[in-house]
Amino acid sequence: MWDYTDKVLELFYDPKNQGAIEETDELGVKVATGEIGSIACGDALRLHLKVEVESDKILDARFQTFGCTSAIASSSALTEMIKGLTLDEALKVSNKDIANYLGGLPEAKMHCSVMGQEALEAAIYNYRGIPLTSHDDDDEGALVCSCFGISESKIRRVILENNLTDAEQVTNYVKAGGGCGSCLANIDDIIKAVQQESAAPALNNYALKVATDIATSQQQSQLSLTNVQKIALIQKVLDEEVRPVLIADGGDVELYDVEGDRVKVLLQGACGSCSSSTATLKIAIEARLQDRVSKNLVVEAV
Ligand code: FES
Repeated sequence: MWDYTDKVLELFYDPKNQGAIEETDELGVKVATGEIGSIACGDALRLHLKVEVESDKILDARFQTFGCTSAIASSSALTEMIKGLTLDEALKVSNKDIANYLGGLPEAKMHCSVMGQEALEAAIYNYRGIPLTSHDDDDEGALVCSCFGISESKIRRVILENNLTDAEQVTNYVKAGGGCGSCLANIDDIIKAVQQESAAPALNNYALKVATDIATSQQQSQLSLTNVQKIALIQKVLDEEVRPVLIADGGDVELYDVEGDRVKVLLQGACGSCSSSTATLKIAIEARLQDRVSKNLVVEAV
């Protein structure tokens, strides 16, 4: 038995806005439909929007779904959330917003919230006459999971938007990997690549923060330390000022050795395999240690 929130159960037992919106001759109003999934795969959602042409406002939203408790609740939640929004405002609704509206979904059911968000986008793209093949590049990325027809760009998007860290989560969100399993290794590679790409700008921000700290630092005098004190202080600065920032971005650093003024460090996690972030990281760590310990220190990644 899934652990559903009260809101999920409420919208399952008493769904809001279930049904279709028929085409209308009403002046200044248009109906759009977006469909996602397939009955053969188990989940399918058709979303209908009634839009006021002049204001681009969603006057009504209804859904038809062939799915489980979470699919019904997610679809129902979505229709409640978007009524009264303009199409541009509705495009900002994420699968996370849908899950949050429901007070959360079991992780294995998160694909229902993704399905809702995709049906919404499909309906809006249809309304605007934009071919779905150019929609969000989903069909331009390489096909990763042939069992469920999921492209790399779709997997990348769900990883980024939901901070996913393993292939099992990706399966829960978009089903990729949930069939024969032969694509799971590829999904792992995509997760690593996305993490590295996300870490690089974070490291640049970190370098900037270090530079700012140093510029404003009142502590310009350098300490006179014994070798043991110097190593202990280097370790303390790494542990207290550098590692917490890197760990938060999926990386880490370990003190490997100190030879005179040469500080050797091991870069780990997301920091370890990206050449550009390695350079940034080295500069950032070096600047921090020069400021806190000795201006003569040189940091080397080993
Ligand atoms: S190819 Fe992805 S599960 Fe089979």
